[in-house]
Amino acid sequence: MLHTNLSVNPEGHLTFAGMDTVRLCEKYGTPLLLLDEDRVRQNLRTYLRTMREVFGAGSFPCYASKALSFTGIYKIVAEEGAGVDLVSPGELYTAARARFPLSRAFFHGNNKTDEDIRYALEAGVGYFVVDNAEELAALEKLCQSRDTQQKILLRLTPGIDPHTHAKISTGKVDSKFGVAIETGQAMELVRRTLDCPHIHLAGFHCHVGSQCFDSQPFIDAAAIMLDFMTKVRDRFGLTADILNLGGGYGVRYVDAHPSIDIADNIRLVARRIRETCAALSFPQPRILLEPGRSIVADAGLTLYTCGSVKTIPGYKSYVSVDGGMTDNPRYALYQAPYTVLNASRAAAPADLTATIAGRCCESGDLIQENVTLPTPARGDRIAVLVTGAYNYSMASNYNRIPRPPIVLLHDGQDRLAVRRESFEDLVRNDLCEELAAEPS
Ligand code: LLP
Repeated sequence: MLHTNLSVNPEGHLTFAGMDTVRLCEKYGTPLLLLDEDRVRQNLRTYLRTMREVFGAGSFPCYASKALSFTGIYKIVAEEGAGVDLVSPGELYTAARARFPLSRAFFHGNNKTDEDIRYALEAGVGYFVVDNAEELAALEKLCQSRDTQQKILLRLTPGIDPHTHAKISTGKVDSKFGVAIETGQAMELVRRTLDCPHIHLAGFHCHVGSQCFDSQPFIDAAAIMLDFMTKVRDRFGLTADILNLGGGYGVRYVDAHPSIDIADNIRLVARRIRETCAALSFPQPRILLEPGRSIVADAGLTLYTCGSVKTIPGYKSYVSVDGGMTDNPRYALYQAPYTVLNASRAAAPADLTATIAGRCCESGDLIQENVTLPTPARGDRIAVLVTGAYNYSMASNYNRIPRPPIVLLHDGQDRLAVRRESFEDLVRNDLCEELAAEPS
């Protein structure tokens, strides 16, 4: 099986985190997102342990919560002692509701409004990751009016192309995020920052891309960032304390993907950082990483119910399921590969090659094409593996389809962590009934 938390029981049902997925479908209905809590914790601990070991006590991972955001995940991350990357006031609100210690939060975003900035200051976010000169000026002004000082990192683009899918590559010079080192704009932003009395420049941030299977982009980015930090010291006398290298390690969605050892990769990056610092005579800063996908992806599994198998002779077969692009838009957006299994007959021979189609009124609503699986009957449960990252967090209500629930699995127990959206939830913000009831 693709990951160690998957197996097949004597009934021929797919198990996940040691639990019978078909039974869980009976209990919670479908579509259903299962999250293996123990796997999330293990993934976090790999980063926590390795980073402490190779970079020292002040270095830790900040979970990039855009990958999967709900109150329960912030509680898990807080318990494990990691930091968090928040990219919007909505994520900040969710983390605050979970009582996440916001001193360990990094507030991102390439277009923070004044209202966002005020809200994050009020909430006591530890660090702002400042994206641009306008944001810097707005932050300085708001801090001045509150008579506070705010720690920040400046987001820079080191000009690295990690060769991943174009839409998820963010470290190139022409990125919409951050300011470029190459053009001189980054150095100019440092100068401006040092003129802001209410801002403390704690360090620098970059993020090269996502779903990267080797460490070269991180090593290259670190070298460029450390060179820049040395120039900042030489020019302004500031020895910055933090270098945040962003997220991006890849996960195995299908057999053809490699399975990478995160700890070994971090050790390799650490060795190269030590060498670079020595060559530059620059003291090694605290290193932070922002893994999202590699924390939650393989901890997630989505279950659907098959409604029909339609074979168009001479063309293709469709297996239709009761979810689709509303709970997982990644095939529609990126042609992202996924492994699909028949959870009800996991031990049967795979005898049908089909396209797995969602229920939306949209031809592009596909979960995957060219999947070979045991022919499903109506009512069989269909499992899509490795759906913990960027599925629920990118879900929509297109066609007024409610979002699925999230069930946490821990120690052989299942616990509802996010309930299924109801039809009532779908109309909660619709006002026409009230409008109709008002006297004209
Ligand atoms: N830090 C920053 C600043 C980021 O922009 C991202 C992801 C991360 C950390 C986490 O990267 P990860 O470890 O998850 O690769 N929706 C796309 C992924 C977009 C990633 C955007 N930034 C997808 O479904 O593949």
